[in-house]
Amino acid sequence: LQFRVQIAAQQPPARGTLLAHCFVSDTQGTKYVSGTALEKEYRDLVENANVVMLRWTPDGKITFVNEFGLKLFGYSERELVGQHVVGSIVPETDSSGRELSPLIQGICSDPHKFEHHINENMCRNGERIWISWTNRLVPDAKSGIKEILSVGSEITERLKEMERLKSIFIASMSHELLTPLNSIIGFTGMTLQGLSGDLNEEQRDNLSRSYQASKHLLSLITDVMDISKIEAGRVEAVPEEFGLIEVVDDAFDTVRSEIREKGLRLTADIPENLRIRTDRRRLLQCLINLLTNAVKFTERGGVHVSSSEVDGQLEISVSDTGIGIAEEDVPKLFEPFERLESHLRIKAGGTGLGLYLTKKLVTDILRGAVKVRSKVGEGSTFIIRIPKALQGAQP
Ligand SMILES: Nc1ncnc2c1ncn2[C@@H]1O[C@H](COP(=O)(O)OP(=O)(O)O)[C@@H](O)[C@H]1O
Ligand SMILES: [Mg+2]
Repeated sequence: LQFRVQIAAQQPPARGTLLAHCFVSDTQGTKYVSGTALEKEYRDLVENANVVMLRWTPDGKITFVNEFGLKLFGYSERELVGQHVVGSIVPETDSSGRELSPLIQGICSDPHKFEHHINENMCRNGERIWISWTNRLVPDAKSGIKEILSVGSEITERLKEMERLKSIFIASMSHELLTPLNSIIGFTGMTLQGLSGDLNEEQRDNLSRSYQASKHLLSLITDVMDISKIEAGRVEAVPEEFGLIEVVDDAFDTVRSEIREKGLRLTADIPENLRIRTDRRRLLQCLINLLTNAVKFTERGGVHVSSSEVDGQLEISVSDTGIGIAEEDVPKLFEPFERLESHLRIKAGGTGLGLYLTKKLVTDILRGAVKVRSKVGEGSTFIIRIPKALQGAQP
C-alpha cells in the first residue's frame, strides 16, 4: 500500500498564526486528512466566543486581541496590535477623572490583586464601556512575566441597571426619612417658639442646635432625593412658556434677606419681553442654587444676573464679586459632597450637593450645559446654557 504525504504551510485566510496543513492521500488520490481541523475549531472558539481575549506585555503593548474584542472596541487588528493599552482601549482617565496608567502598572506588578477586576474601557469612537476582567500571567522562561492574558465580558448594561436600582432605593428611602424628620423640625420649632412654656438659656441653645441640624439634614435629604430621582430616570421635564424675568424674580425672593443682611447689591439685566419654554420649576431650582452660592461666597459688592442668546440658545449668567475659585478647583465643583477650602466655608452652611444637582438638572432635564468662569479674589460667573424652547416630555 502506498501513501502520499504532503505537508504545506499556509497563511490562513483570516488572521492568526501560520497554519500547517497535512494532506494524506492514497495512490488514487481519494483520501484527505487535515491536521488543522482541531486547531481551526479552537481558533473559532477564541475568536468568536462572547468574551474579549487580550494578550499584552508587561510594558503595556497589546500583542493579541480576538475577533470579538476587535468588534467590541471597533478597531481592526492592524490598528490595535502594537498599541499601548492606555490611550487605546483603556482611557487615560476614567469618568471620575482618575488616571488609569497607575492601575495598568498595578496589574503588571501585582497581578494577583487584580485577578478579577472591573474596569472602565473605551471604544474607538470614544464610548465608555465597563468590562469585568480576569487577568492571568503568562510566565517566561526566566521566571519573569512574558505576557498578561486578560479575558473580559462587557457588563455596561448590567451596571447601569444596578445604578438605576440603587437610585430607586435611595429615592424611596429618602422619602421615608422625610416624615419623621418633618415631625422633629415641627416640634423643635414649636418648642423654640415657646409654645410649650418658657425655656432657659441652655435649653434654648441646645434646641436651636437640634433645629439647625435637622434643617441641614432636611436639605441633604431633599437634594439626595432629587439626584436619585434624576439618576433613576424618574424625573421628566414639564415644559411651559413663561417670562424669564419672572423666574429670576422668584429666585431673587429667596436670597433678598441675606443680601440685605450682608449689604450686597442684587441686580438683573434681562429683557422684559424675553419668553422661554422650559421646565420652570427645575430652572428656578438651578437659579436658586447658583444665587445662594453667589451670596454665600460674596462679602463685598454684589450679585448680578443677565441673559443673552447664543446660536438660538439662551445663556443665563449668575455673577458675583466674591472669593472666586482657583482654576485647579474648577473640576471639583460639580462633584458630589465637594466643598472647597475657604475661610467662608465653615461659616456658610451647605451640603456640597448644590452644584452637582444643578448640573444634573441642567444637562439631564433642561438639556443644556453649565460652565464657570472665575478668578480668585475677583468673583465667579456661573453660566447656564439651555434651549430657548425645550421639546415636549423627555423619552
Ligand atoms: N459663587 C461661588 N464662589 C465661590 N465658590 C463657590 C461658588 N459656588 C460654589 N462654590 C464652591 O463650590 C462648592 C460646592 O458648591 P455647592 O455644590 O453648591 O455646595 P454648598 O453650597 O453646599 O457648599 C462650595 O462649597 C464652594 O466651595
Ligand atoms: Mg450651594
